[in-house]
Amino acid sequence: MKSLHIHKTKSLKGQIGIPGDKSISHRAVMLGAVARGETVVNNFLPSADCLATVECFRRMGIEIKVKGMRCEVRGKGLKGLKAPNKMLNVGNSGTTIRLASGIIAGQNFEVKITGDESIEKRPMGRIAKPLRLMGASIEGVLKNNEIYAPLKIIGGNLKPIEYELPVASAQVKSAVLLAGLFADGKTCVIERMPSRDHTERLLEHFGAGFDRAGERASIVGNCEFAGAEIDIPGDISSAAFFLVAALLTPDSELHLLNVGLNPTRTGIIDVLHRMGAAIEIPRERVLSAEPRADIIVRSSELRSVELNGEIIPRIIDEIPVIAVAATQAEGVTEIRGAKELRIKESDRIKTIASELRKLGAKIEELEDGLRIEGPTKLKGAILQSYGDHRIAMAMAIAGLVAEGETTIENTECIETSFPGFEPLLKELR
Ligand code: S3P
Repeated sequence: MKSLHIHKTKSLKGQIGIPGDKSISHRAVMLGAVARGETVVNNFLPSADCLATVECFRRMGIEIKVKGMRCEVRGKGLKGLKAPNKMLNVGNSGTTIRLASGIIAGQNFEVKITGDESIEKRPMGRIAKPLRLMGASIEGVLKNNEIYAPLKIIGGNLKPIEYELPVASAQVKSAVLLAGLFADGKTCVIERMPSRDHTERLLEHFGAGFDRAGERASIVGNCEFAGAEIDIPGDISSAAFFLVAALLTPDSELHLLNVGLNPTRTGIIDVLHRMGAAIEIPRERVLSAEPRADIIVRSSELRSVELNGEIIPRIIDEIPVIAVAATQAEGVTEIRGAKELRIKESDRIKTIASELRKLGAKIEELEDGLRIEGPTKLKGAILQSYGDHRIAMAMAIAGLVAEGETTIENTECIETSFPGFEPLLKELR
């Protein structure tokens, strides 16, 4: 079992190349697999989660080469996948199982798919429902009216649907749009609260018959499209740890390079600005349909915020590190409307509260969020990651401001999204 040992830090200075965006890396491989011809992905994130996606599509007959941060996918078109000869395994990756299920639903063969212990506890009814409406057969483990992996999917002959998302979830939206690639007609997803739109942007980038109007995103099925070149920006969810680290550590200045600034993901910057953060974004550019820029962040005195409603899907993966920032902010921070946190890689409402409390934070668990009173002097302790990468990294950032030593146990999970996190943190100190 790996552990991370963090000490209170005086100052953080330097430049960081932020690793590629995880959400976009998954989607680039999946769309590349069903495009015709070669897709080249630059700044691909070779993390455990994305490599799980690569492995699943290799098992369905697609040749994929990963050389460092370059990934080459030899797509075989919409009808090019073949039945895998054994159960697909997505490891810890919720995005892989939910999005790949959308593509699998369009195939004329049977696929069994599962993942690790955490995946087998995450609800799959949210994708099974619309994919069944499109005509796919999906069976799984039934418990309390919910369906869990392992899933058995038999797809093919899909019909288009119009589907209003019952939860703000980019994974569900993407599963339906990806299944829509194989449906006979136009599939439409309606979302009332915007969630990340990387699938939509990539579908447009590939020229795959995608269209959007307000809350409606639609895809016309059975339109072949060619492979593309994709430049992936740095993952703002990974940058978030270093944004908060620099804000909380005295006398700090970090330059975070090439950070993705898709407006459906920049909630973290809006929230930190509202808290009083000194974050500058001098020049934005757009490549492969995704905006990005270098970001400068300096130590700041923070104040509390109230977070609820539309902002929540835009910060859903950053709430663990926002909670860390809130422990050092003046006043009471309240996060509501974030019940989805309970079904992430861990029950993040519970795990954030329990671990920050071990450091001495004043934090209360709410049914759909957290209440945090700041600022509090934190004191080093031994913390658990619960196998959740974002909990492990958020607690490492808390460790930078806690007196003495903080140990985070079971940190292998960091590999799922941010290989190289620990050496990077060491190098900046
Ligand atoms: C993701 C969507 C979000 C997010 C996850 C990645 C994606 O999940 O939490 O880390 O790449 O589509 P939900 O769709 O469940 O909100």
